[in-house]
Amino acid sequence: MRVLVTGGCGFIGSRFVERLVGGGDSVVVLDKLTYAGNRANLDGVLHDFVEGDIADRDVVSRAGDGCDVCVNFAAETHVDRSILGAREFIHTDVLGTYVLLEWARESGARLVHVSTDEVYGDLEPGYSSSELDALRPSSPYSASKAGGDLQVLSFVRTFDVDAVITRGSNTYGPYQYPEKLIPLFVTNALTGKELPIYGDGKQVRDWLHVSDHTAAIDFVMRNGSQGEAYNVGGGCELENLDVIDRIVELCNADRGLLRHVDDRPGHDRRYSLDCSKLEQLGWSATHDFVSGLRDTVDWYRENRAWWEPIKSGEYRTYYERQYAARLQT
Ligand code: NAD
Ligand code: TYD
Repeated sequence: MRVLVTGGCGFIGSRFVERLVGGGDSVVVLDKLTYAGNRANLDGVLHDFVEGDIADRDVVSRAGDGCDVCVNFAAETHVDRSILGAREFIHTDVLGTYVLLEWARESGARLVHVSTDEVYGDLEPGYSSSELDALRPSSPYSASKAGGDLQVLSFVRTFDVDAVITRGSNTYGPYQYPEKLIPLFVTNALTGKELPIYGDGKQVRDWLHVSDHTAAIDFVMRNGSQGEAYNVGGGCELENLDVIDRIVELCNADRGLLRHVDDRPGHDRRYSLDCSKLEQLGWSATHDFVSGLRDTVDWYRENRAWWEPIKSGEYRTYYERQYAARLQT
């Protein structure tokens, strides 16, 4: 199979490309190389590469020429950045998805749209979202992703496009840009920097190892039915404070680095996925969080050359904007 992987230089996309190439598929990566995209994530992995924007129709047709399927990882992905400004989120996650759908419609290729559990919004304790639930996004990020999902469903219904959706939960593992909870706290803990906990830290997320996530997307790409969405969870719901305690311990960090800071506006309290649909088809998560997190911490400890340059670049401006005032109060 020849597969167009958009956003293939990011965290999950790069691990997906590695997986496909290892399995013998031919891959072309289309990536705009935003702050989150890094060609070094694909060092040693054989692939064709086009630098460009998924919202650019000509670029997409050039990159997608001869492809049987496109798997779309390209997105603006960080909630906190979407709160600082959502224009790029609308551009890529909404307009970009539309352009990929038009391409799929013209070419007849399948589109696998990689989405998130955040489209379901905040959940009461004890409840898990099913694929048929209404989308109730809370942040500009999750609203832009939900906009992508809804367009996909409309293109299936109106134009018979062959598209499927995956909705994954919070993903962790090597090569994750150090702005999300786990890589931010690990890299801060390893360098003796403060660990900024939003609010009371009792928010719940379901943690999914990146290898389980890419395996699920691969499975859906090959076995998913047209027009269906599939939840992909790690089966590991934890309060942030539990995750943070484990990070502090694994990094041998000082607990004095922990700081409760002003909460994120609109912060969702809890996500949880009912994954029985995908499990009945034959996929389930296999990584346990204890060893997955330990291996992830080891990776960041051993690969400072990967993240130290990131943390000294554009990142510093973002970090200041996001955390400076919070850490002062
Ligand atoms: P990431 O932020 O690490 O990488 C995004 C990639 O997309 C980067 O390589 C970037 O350069 C590229 N990109 C951004 N805008 C582009 C554009 N307009 N055209 C082409 N390329 C562009 O993201 P990630 O964490 O790997 O997430 C991948 C997908 O998985 C996203 O759709 C995200 O919504 C979804 N997802 C992520 C998580 C998570 O916890 N990280 C969980 C569930 C779902
Ligand atoms: P994040 O990794 O940004 O993922 P998402 O918001 O998409 O779930 O955040 C995970 C949880 O960690 C979320 O409840 C917010 C919290 N968090 C902090 O407490 N401090 C931080 O600095 C960050 C980035 C996140």
